[in-house]
Amino acid sequence: MLFLSRFAFSFFLFLVLIQVQAQNAAQANYDESKVPPYTLPDVLKTTKSKKVQTKTEWETIRRPEIIKLFEENVYGQMPKSYDRLTYSIKNKNADAMAGKATLKEVTIEVVKNNNPVKINLVLFVPNRQKGPVPVFLLINNRGKDNTDPTRAKKSDFWPAEMVIDSGYAIAAFHVSDLAPDDTATYVNGVLQLYPEQLTANDGMKAIGAWAWGACRVLDYFEKDTTIDAKKVAVVGHSRGGKASLWAAAEDQRFAMCMTNCSGNTGAALARRQFGERINRINTVFPHWFATNYKKFNHKENVLPVDQHMLIAAIAPRPLYATNASKDLWADPTGTYLALKNAEKVYGLYGLTSNLNANPPAINQPIINSILGYHNREGEHNLTAYDWSNFIKFANVHLKK
Ligand code: GCU
Repeated sequence: MLFLSRFAFSFFLFLVLIQVQAQNAAQANYDESKVPPYTLPDVLKTTKSKKVQTKTEWETIRRPEIIKLFEENVYGQMPKSYDRLTYSIKNKNADAMAGKATLKEVTIEVVKNNNPVKINLVLFVPNRQKGPVPVFLLINNRGKDNTDPTRAKKSDFWPAEMVIDSGYAIAAFHVSDLAPDDTATYVNGVLQLYPEQLTANDGMKAIGAWAWGACRVLDYFEKDTTIDAKKVAVVGHSRGGKASLWAAAEDQRFAMCMTNCSGNTGAALARRQFGERINRINTVFPHWFATNYKKFNHKENVLPVDQHMLIAAIAPRPLYATNASKDLWADPTGTYLALKNAEKVYGLYGLTSNLNANPPAINQPIINSILGYHNREGEHNLTAYDWSNFIKFANVHLKK
């Protein structure tokens, strides 16, 4: 009886949550004419109101300031120290994909204060390439079957054959190795290594832990002689795309970043309040961002940063962002405008992007630009079309 009523109560709560989510999503603004007037924080003005004019001022004053602001207010700290990182090759097949690639399934173990975290990496390296090769690393937030090492199952979410045929290595790890994507269990992973993060208001949570994982995989790449660790592109879709941006901003060893349909607290400007909003993301996914971020629920304009500053923190490295035409939740226009507003930081490095004032038409990718972008026809997803443009973009910026 007690069990039944508990069950009924949990079910009731579940229904309420679903309804709240549906209401929030329904209340979201999708009307461009209702975007409120807003002023973005000036990416080139320090907190002491000093105008940043040179690359050196950017690198020594403003960039560190921006990273700190994101750590304190949005993603939480990114602890960098650990006691040791070891790895073992669980499975190797030099004749994978009909001889085109070598498969390595690597277990990377990171230990701090006797607490271990294990990252299971799937890696395919093209066989025809001589010397270390550039690699695409996917932060996988979907099912593990999307990155099937046996290739019995193939998925456009991680089209390994296409990437191998283009002369790049491709790798992936699953977010659950670092922090399960769950309000209660996200603490079981990286956060066991850094327990102080759990209680701090600026402590990292799941998205921070996933980005941390990408950085540890990069540590591993530096030890793998088949990989060119100076040419690692970090890729993520949606929540994974928020993590790929944060990883690239925090860790300047990443040579390139791909952020696919990453939307709110990813590549889209928060101040536009279009589609998903901070209040909603913090309510439905309270385990993603630092506790401090909740202070900005319904208060986008008080936030000392906006997402163009995260993109700017990746400069001068090439960045490619995408959207999908039916995915207004992730605010395609707001994403494009974030890139546009990061341009001037790339300008300090003498890099001019070819971004017009307005977003390009659907399926018109911008490739020959340090800031690349497309808005694909269709739904919220990571597809072969997206990857084909990542490869074109990498051909321009990584291969040279
Ligand atoms: C939800 C969430 C988004 C997120 C997306 C995803 O829609 O609101 O912020 O990007 O899930 O990860 O697919």
